[in-house]
Amino acid sequence: MDRYVVMGNPVSHSLSPAIHAAFARATGEALEYDRLLIPPGKFREHASRFFGEGGKGANVTLPFKVDAFDWADERSDRAQVAGAANFLTAREGRMLADNTDGAGLVRDLVENHGVRLAGARLLVLGAGGATRGILAPLLAAKVAHIVVANRTVARALELAVRFREHGKVEGVALDAIPPDRYDVVLNATSTSTRGEELVLPEHALPQGAFAYDLAYGPGARAFVERAKAAGMRASDGLGMLVEQAAESFELWRGKRPTTPPVLAELRARMA
Ligand code: ATR
Repeated sequence: MDRYVVMGNPVSHSLSPAIHAAFARATGEALEYDRLLIPPGKFREHASRFFGEGGKGANVTLPFKVDAFDWADERSDRAQVAGAANFLTAREGRMLADNTDGAGLVRDLVENHGVRLAGARLLVLGAGGATRGILAPLLAAKVAHIVVANRTVARALELAVRFREHGKVEGVALDAIPPDRYDVVLNATSTSTRGEELVLPEHALPQGAFAYDLAYGPGARAFVERAKAAGMRASDGLGMLVEQAAESFELWRGKRPTTPPVLAELRARMA
């Protein structure tokens, strides 16, 4: 049977095996999908061993997305723009790296939440790896403007320069977010996964706009509740996880799984 894994540290919490098992059942594909815990600093040897022993593909999660990108023989355009990979596949003895996170986010926003990205004004909180992976796909979806706000302003400014050629991106400090009519606010900081406080000016959560946390779990739930209390529509990033998985599954198996039933199943299980 074809073998796939999610590589990370930690990975015990990962929902990817359950998602891919559901996709496999629904599409009639025979495959195995497990978790592979990799010790810090040991990505190369563990990835080499998995693929050396006939592994077909891997999703890669924190903290190895840059290692996966560096280790691969070839990189897709979107992985190169993100500078990170969450997807690996073996093709004719060569390792290919891709990044399906941004596509997963755009699909979740547009298809599952009915968010209109074309012409929208976006506020993205955070300027780390997660933000770097989503800016190009958001700009490709024809958003009007993206303000990237970060605690360390230098990182936000750096991203603004890096993505200038893809569209209108501005970098600001988290405590200097310009008051504007934002349509969509994305939390791409690591505060939700780490359970840290995210200090924001009131106008960063504008009433009537859509708020989205790229994470899921208790921290993301807290952000969603906070946004709803401010009069926003809001969601965590569970749908992004399912959609990036669907994108991965299609790349590996050539079949696009239907995602809403899988997302509903996960929500029910988490509730
Ligand atoms: P990831 O890959 O999850 O993006 P990262 O590259 O370490 O992880 O980036 C974490 C992001 O969350 C950064 O933008 C970070 O801000 P700094 O660049 O100033 O460190 C942001 N972040 C982390 N903790 C935060 C906090 N308590 N308040 C605000 N922003 C925070």
